[in-house]
Amino acid sequence: MIKPAAVEANQVGAILNIIEEHGFRISAIKKLIMSAEQARNFYIEHKERPFYGELANFMSSADVITLILTKENAVQDFRKLIGATNPEEAAEGTIRKRFAKSMRKNAVHGSDSKESAEREANYFFSKMERF
Ligand code: CMP
Repeated sequence: MIKPAAVEANQVGAILNIIEEHGFRISAIKKLIMSAEQARNFYIEHKERPFYGELANFMSSADVITLILTKENAVQDFRKLIGATNPEEAAEGTIRKRFAKSMRKNAVHGSDSKESAEREANYFFSKMERF
């Protein structure tokens, strides 16, 4: 997912370009605005964390780009491509190093496991919307 601050900053094209250049196929793509409740449900695994409410507020504050990306070893390779959650720790050449503004406004979200990827893909896309 491309987060609201990166969408607002017109960085969607640049981020998608990097993703495609690294061999990911865009199997599904959609722009949408989540309600606060939908954002809380999306991030339900973080519900006990102190930043949960603010994170859900931010993620439902404006439009996001949701994606299903396909590639061999996609989950691990995408996490490597986006870099550390904290942009100060993100390696050179990663998407977050280049586009993140803060821990919350860290440009993109990537699924952390195959199970999360399934759940998150199903959260946003029907079968008819994936290719
Ligand atoms: P994301 O990959 O979308 O998954 C959960 C998000 O919570 C994470 O990126 C960050 O944007 C945010 N996050 C994680 N840790 C913190 C923190 N300590 N303070 C604020 N936001 C955080």
